[in-house]
Amino acid sequence: MPGVNEEKAGLRTRLLAARAELSAEQRTAAGRAVRDALLDRPEVQMAGTIAAYYSVGTEPDTRGLVFALWKRGSYVLLPLLRPDGDLDWASYEGPDSLVAGPRGLLEPGEPPRGPGAVARADVVLAPALAVDPAGNRLGRGGGSYDRALARVGPMIPLLALIYDAELLDRVPAEPHDVKVRAAVSPGSGVTVLGAG
Ligand SMILES: Nc1ncnc2c1ncn2[C@@H]1O[C@H](COP(=O)(O)OP(=O)(O)OP(=O)(O)O)[C@@H](O)[C@H]1O
Ligand SMILES: [Mg+2]
Repeated sequence: MPGVNEEKAGLRTRLLAARAELSAEQRTAAGRAVRDALLDRPEVQMAGTIAAYYSVGTEPDTRGLVFALWKRGSYVLLPLLRPDGDLDWASYEGPDSLVAGPRGLLEPGEPPRGPGAVARADVVLAPALAVDPAGNRLGRGGGSYDRALARVGPMIPLLALIYDAELLDRVPAEPHDVKVRAAVSPGSGVTVLGAG
């Protein structure tokens, strides 16, 4: 029987292959639908500070979402990948405030606020390759988000952004994996997971 790590790796390969089949138009449309679902949510509307991320590659496009949140007056924090794999956070101040980071990422050029800054967000948006009804989340395998999300308080809405087919019956999880409270996908909008 394969271990959890092998199971996660196999699942990532399968999910990334499915994402690679999507066109740029599909990613953009997915990003719009996810954006609209999130902008409709009271907890997002009321959030003073939102920790988000700038999508890369085949992820549902979050660039319009980040712009809209900022335009509406939220303080938007974006991650910076540290050499040790942990995440630091800095504010988004419009599309021109981004600079090239490692691994093709666009990162905020503003001063980093430290890895603990994510704990001050009222809503946290996380990338994911898959989630399950219990809230288990599969990421890209760096463990960066597990480290960051462990600093987020239990009452803070923690939402994973996925494509519709990525809400799976079961996602393998280890003790360090931080559960998310909801999934947001283009066709289903916000799906509350676990205990909510
Ligand atoms: N809190 C932590 N502190 C230190 N290392 C961690 C922590 N959480 C996870 N890791 C490391 O990250 C590795 C990958 O974790 P995992 O397979 O859960 O990644 P992931 O959840 O897919 O990625 P990500 O969290 O970046 O989206 C783990 O095997 C572990 O070594
Ligand atoms: Mg994990």
